[in-house]
Amino acid sequence: MEIRFDQIVKTWPDGTRALNGIDLTIPAGQFCVLLGPSGAGKSTLLRCVNGLETPSEGQVLVDGQRVDRRSLPGLRKRIAMVHQHFGLVSRGSGALNVMAGAVSALPLWRVLTGLYPDPLKRKVCELMRAVGLEEAHLRRRAEQLSGGQQQRLGIARAFMLDPAVVLADEPVASLDPTLGRDVMALLRRQASLRGATVLCSLHQLDLARAFADRIVALHRGRVIFDGAPDALTPRDVALIYDRAAPANEAPPMPLLEAV
Ligand SMILES: Nc1ncnc2c1ncn2[C@@H]1O[C@H](COP(=O)(O)OP(=O)(O)OP(=O)(O)O)[C@@H](O)[C@H]1O
Ligand SMILES: [Mg+2]
Repeated sequence: MEIRFDQIVKTWPDGTRALNGIDLTIPAGQFCVLLGPSGAGKSTLLRCVNGLETPSEGQVLVDGQRVDRRSLPGLRKRIAMVHQHFGLVSRGSGALNVMAGAVSALPLWRVLTGLYPDPLKRKVCELMRAVGLEEAHLRRRAEQLSGGQQQRLGIARAFMLDPAVVLADEPVASLDPTLGRDVMALLRRQASLRGATVLCSLHQLDLARAFADRIVALHRGRVIFDGAPDALTPRDVALIYDRAAPANEAPPMPLLEAV
């Protein structure tokens, strides 16, 4: 499904402007990476898509439908999220954690009794295999798996309901570079197999170049680059990361007022 940001502004109660007029259309099936320094607004923008944040101005449209209280319950079934810290139930088994991705489509009694339909159980196994996990990992508690394995679970969980949109907020930030690359490859592969649109924030420029169809760079809540990875020049990279106010330009912190 297409994601459209229409003049999005997000101002926090303390006056911080996290997003400052974002206008973007991400076509269905695109793998779009958000780059930008810390505080640029990447997570805020992602979270506006599934209603975890509400824009102060403007609107987000998913598949032409405005994201609001009325549309969200339906839309959330088609939008999955992959988190930096995996967001797993640490004492739950691998299988239970993957199954959690289907909970929103199940009646409450099934969740409470743990009597899951067979097609969903098969889907758990299929996805576990697709992300490179073995049967033993299905039974083991999530906390007993390595970070890379945990994020594989996170990705399998995200694809349980064949989402049309996947939001990934720094999905490999907690992993070492080699694992990070493997997990990105997996995310990319699962998304393209299923035609899902992906909006993925990253801090790793090399991974953005390797996996994105399109890179959008944010800086202080504005888009300062939007194009194919090949079009990103060293000058763009310098602009994205160097323009942040160096410490010596920042006004002195009003310490007493802050505490
Ligand atoms: N709940 C909140 N209340 C107030 N300000 C917030 C809140 N969440 C984020 N902000 C502020 O909004 C701005 C954008 O934050 P955001 O988390 O979107 O940045 P980011 O690009 O994801 O950064 P990072 O790379 O560090 O994750 C920052 O100035 C941040 O301090
Ligand atoms: Mg963030």
